[in-house]
Amino acid sequence: MTSVPTIRWGIIGTGWISTEVVKDLILERPDAKAVHVIQAIGCSSLSKGQAFAKSTIPHLSPTVYGSYAECYADPKVDLIYIGTPHAFHKDNCLEAIQHGKHILCEKAFTLNAREAREVFAAAKAKGVFIMEAMWTRFFPLMQTLQRLLHDEKIIGDILRVFADFGLNMDVKSLGPESRLKNKALGAGSLLDVGIYSLTWGLLCLDRNIADKAEKPKVVSLLSLEEGVDMTSSFLLLYPSTGRQGILTSTMSVKSDETFARIEGSKGTIFVEGPGTSIPSRFKYVPNNKDEKEKVFEFEKPGAGYYYEADAVAMDIQAGRTENAVMPWAETIRVMEIMDDIRYTNGALFPQDAE
Ligand SMILES: NC(=O)c1ccc[n+]([C@@H]2O[C@H](COP(=O)([O-])OP(=O)(O)OC[C@H]3O[C@@H](n4cnc5c(N)ncnc54)[C@H](OP(=O)(O)O)[C@@H]3O)[C@@H](O)[C@H]2O)c1
Repeated sequence: MTSVPTIRWGIIGTGWISTEVVKDLILERPDAKAVHVIQAIGCSSLSKGQAFAKSTIPHLSPTVYGSYAECYADPKVDLIYIGTPHAFHKDNCLEAIQHGKHILCEKAFTLNAREAREVFAAAKAKGVFIMEAMWTRFFPLMQTLQRLLHDEKIIGDILRVFADFGLNMDVKSLGPESRLKNKALGAGSLLDVGIYSLTWGLLCLDRNIADKAEKPKVVSLLSLEEGVDMTSSFLLLYPSTGRQGILTSTMSVKSDETFARIEGSKGTIFVEGPGTSIPSRFKYVPNNKDEKEKVFEFEKPGAGYYYEADAVAMDIQAGRTENAVMPWAETIRVMEIMDDIRYTNGALFPQDAE
């Protein structure tokens, strides 16, 4: 029997997502597959980092650094979690890799596929684990849904997938320093939330991921304001089956609680949750009226960031450098599709030209 791994985390950035992830990591869970220790916090300022530690984990005493570099260099840290805006992910990852640290890096993994390839090449050369924190893929709900769709064929032949992720971010009221408005920080609905709509499309339309997946044709439209996409709509077409994904995102409107619909020859599945990243249940509605509808509920404590965290810990314990649910080639595939959508519609980041 293998023991439950312990991972000592170094948290980089003390903004919104780092707060949510840290709260989830330390939740008491009877079925936890790993122990997560908040070993260190790396922040742009010592006082800000101390305030983060005090408000988020008042009962714990991590080492708080007023720089990221000191956190990367801490020998007691096993894994660096990167919770900064997308534009900093490449450099944050490269620096952590130089220090031989394993990494869990927030989505979008980088600004474009070229940057992602550069980071994976460095990780490979150093032999460290690295993964994009696409947490939704790790939910038991997602794994059950994929099994029902692709193995048990609960809705028969899959025909179409609709998925939307909209948040009303009131972008107009934000200053130019906001990561949601500033192109140099990777602003735009596609990389922020459209990546989830794309993920639902990719996982529900094809049982395979990464290099094994079929390459869909992509057609897209972006509504730009000062070069930043406020709204994205994109279609995926799988040539071998004719399956289509109708996928959307926006920073202007909150999407409906029922954010995805998967249609098949024998029935339809409706997926619900407070956000497209955080599904909580789905309903199977058969075409045959004699057959009963079925609701699949997935209750859980907290938000659910610990599912990916446990998976990362188990990979590291086993000596793996990538994860089978979110392998490097899958991150690159997602980035390439988003590059295609952005480049086709003129939503360029300054870093795309580098
Ligand atoms: N998985 C999810 O559910 C989820 C949800 C939301 C966001 N995200 C992802 O997480 C990342 C961060 O998002 P967030 O909303 O947490 O961002 P945020 O609160 O705006 O920023 C996070 C941290 O990044 C650093 N930072 C922010 N702006 C900076 C700038 N202009 N220059 C240098 N450093 C800057 C700051 O670190 P210091 O604290 O060190 O000053 C800040 O606290 C994004 O890539 C986003 O896509 C993921």
